[in-house]
Parts: sequence; C-alpha cells; structure tokens
Amino acid sequence: MDQKKIILTYDSIANEYDKLYAKPSCHIKELLNYISKDSVVLDLGCGAGNNATYLSKMGYNVTGMDLSDNMITIAKNKKSDAKFIKGDVRKLNFKNDSCDSIISSYIFCHLSKTDVEKCLARFHDILRPGGMLFIESFTGNLGEITIPEPMNNALTIDFNIMAQNDIELLLAANNFKIIKFWIHDDTEFGLTGIQDTCIIAKKI
Ligand SMILES: C[S@@+](CC[C@H](N)C(=O)[O-])C[C@H]1O[C@@H](n2cnc3c(N)ncnc32)[C@H](O)[C@@H]1O
Repeated sequence: MDQKKIILTYDSIANEYDKLYAKPSCHIKELLNYISKDSVVLDLGCGAGNNATYLSKMGYNVTGMDLSDNMITIAKNKKSDAKFIKGDVRKLNFKNDSCDSIISSYIFCHLSKTDVEKCLARFHDILRPGGMLFIESFTGNLGEITIPEPMNNALTIDFNIMAQNDIELLLAANNFKIIKFWIHDDTEFGLTGIQDTCIIAKKI
C-alpha cells in the first residue's frame, strides 16, 4: 500500500470528494444510540470532515484527524466546533483511556492488514472502558489492488479489500465485541466482489 500516493490522490480530489460525500455516513445515527451527549469522539481519517461536523453540530466533543492537508483545510472551513488536526492513523499519540468513541470510516481499506491490526490495538488503548468503535470499509476477497481513482481516472489509488471475516477476527483478537453490522452489495466501484460494510463494536 503506497500511503504517500494515497494521500497525494486524496489531496488532489479533496474538493470533488467533499461534494460527492457531503452527507454524514448512512449508519452514523445508530452510533448515537450508544454514546452520551458529552462524549469525546475521534474521527480518524476524517476526510473532508462530514461525519465530524455532523457530530459536532449534534453537541459531541469531536476531533477529526487526516493525513491530507487539503481534506483538513476543507473540514476546518465548515466552521463547526470540531477540532481538525493533521496526523497519521498508524502513529496515534492520543492518551490511553481518553475517548468514548472512535470513527474509522473508509480508512482500513487504505491500510495493509498489519496496519489495520496495529490500529485496532491502539484504538483499544485509546478508548475508555466500554468505548464504541464505528467502522466503515469496503470488504471482499480481492486483497491489495490498484485501480483508477473513480473521481480522476488519470490517477490510481491503492485499496486493501479485506474479507469481512478477517475484520471480524481482528476485532475479536483485539477485544472488541461486534454490536451491529450492515453489509451492502452496492459500491461506487462497479467491481464485482466488493461490499460496503459498517460495523459498530464495543471495547471489552
Ligand atoms: C475514503 S476517504 C474517507 C474520508 C472520511 N472518513 C469519509 O468517510 O468521508 C479516506 C481518507 O483517509 C485518509 N487517509 C489515508 N491514509 C491515512 C493515514 N495513514 N492516516 C490518516 N488519514 C489517512 C485520506 O486522506 C482520506 O481523507
């Protein structure tokens, strides 16, 4: 997975991405059933900040983090109370037991399996007891692939399309219990064998 190239691609499509994905994630409201209003929420790989802005406007104490400068600039311009910082999800330096919920929306599909595993271990450390994890990712059996970027065919982008079962096993191995999940067969790729998966899991 060429992380440098992935970030360069997101830097160059940030405006189009923001327009196309202007709405918060379709299942994010479900997460609100599991976290109280004063919750501290981290949105890691927050992109243009649509989920973070939505949660901030709902009254949550939100910090969004992304490695793309252009995504962070767009997110900050939304002028919510959410804080946005530049950072790498593979090198998190938040304090242990410091947040109630972590959002990981379409970021695992850009990380190697080893990095996903390391992230889950850090997420577990950073979450308070009983903390909630919200994951969205593309799943399937394709593994690591490089495809033309759907928003700019002159560019390519790397994905790691992990099996749903592999994500479930990594969650269990890192002491997360799945509370709810959704699998949708339709994705933006038009490639067969890719699903859109959303999981709400609890730190145990
Ligand atoms: C598909 S977008 C998802 C954005 C947002 N979470 C959403 O759901 O709209 C993937 C995002 O992950 C960011 N990203 C990729 N690798 C990253 C890393 N190692 N650390 C932080 N952000 C990363 C990209 O810059 C991009 O904004």
